[in-house]
Amino acid sequence: VRTVTVLGLESSCDDTAAAVVRQGRDGAQILSSIVHSQDDLHSAYGGVVPELAARAHAEKLDICVIQALHDAGLTLADLDAVAVTAGPGLIGGVVAGVMCAKGICAATGLPLIAVNHLAGHALTPRLTDNVDFPYLVLLVSGGHCQFLIAHGTESFTRLGGTIDDAPGEAFDKVARLLGLAQPGGPAVEAEARKGDAAHFALPRPLLDRAGCDLSFSGLKTAVLRQRDIIALDKGGLTRQDRADLCAGFQQAVTDVLAEKSRRALALYLTQDPAAPVMAVAGGVAANGTIRAALEAVCAQSKVAFVAPPLALCTDNAAMIAYTGIERFRLGARDGMDLAARPRWPL
Ligand code: KG4
Ligand code: ZN
Repeated sequence: VRTVTVLGLESSCDDTAAAVVRQGRDGAQILSSIVHSQDDLHSAYGGVVPELAARAHAEKLDICVIQALHDAGLTLADLDAVAVTAGPGLIGGVVAGVMCAKGICAATGLPLIAVNHLAGHALTPRLTDNVDFPYLVLLVSGGHCQFLIAHGTESFTRLGGTIDDAPGEAFDKVARLLGLAQPGGPAVEAEARKGDAAHFALPRPLLDRAGCDLSFSGLKTAVLRQRDIIALDKGGLTRQDRADLCAGFQQAVTDVLAEKSRRALALYLTQDPAAPVMAVAGGVAANGTIRAALEAVCAQSKVAFVAPPLALCTDNAAMIAYTGIERFRLGARDGMDLAARPRWPL
């Protein structure tokens, strides 16, 4: 196998990232991975402000690229290609990344490779754990929630996904409803540890519907309603109420993800994979309760469970560089007419 070294760029949401990944005979190695979070920039607004994000990406991309090359101990001359997230995502940020990548390619003659952000997440288990196709992957983040069977670098079957909010988004909204810090996931998880998940009855949306689709916005509304009922009753929430609501909400999300994973696994196993694997990707995979439940579901079905390290579950450019390597090996090359795509289903 020829050694391939690719610089990856990511700017589709609120992280500006650049990374260098090299793949040779011994597998893939992350030579550097820089992530510049915009959390501070958006925290006052309670969500990502697209225009602010785009400007910050445009400002920070070159710095991230220079740092990634420096950390890898390489120069542009050592690269085989530049891979960039071309969508889906917030269009201004994606355009900033695509323009930066085009600039580097125009100046150096390096090939340009467009990467789908979702493919980047979905292929991460191959980067971290050398997982072979076909495997089942659950993307659970602030922006995405879907079950995919990965058949190949450019071949995915979508088994189902959220019909409204992503689970991370629901965690963030629940945190806001209860006056907890952003991002909500870690804050709600910490509160939930002190709470009783059975204290408040919360719904398990869409469990009565066949298939792998999910829904989380009703659950968030149920938390809001419960909060208001308690407030009417007692004039406010006690610390214990808040912890119980967090625990109940987290358990409801967990139960829904676990049951839908069982169904997705059953569909995946009809493909008779030689070494069955279910992987997770996305920031919500950081949640200990959710992770443990998914692990248990996999164990019941005798399917290996793969969860990449957290830094590679959340948005990063190593997954983009790695996906770029796979596409490069398949002969994919994009031109200077490459367009940023806000919507780009796998
Ligand atoms: O993958 P990610 O960094 O960004 C995208 O959405 O693409 O995921 C961020 C999301 C946020 O909504 C955050 O609240 C959630 O992942 N998250 C968690 C936890 N840590 C992060 N959700 C639940 N439990 C956690 N421990
Ligand atoms: Zn993402």
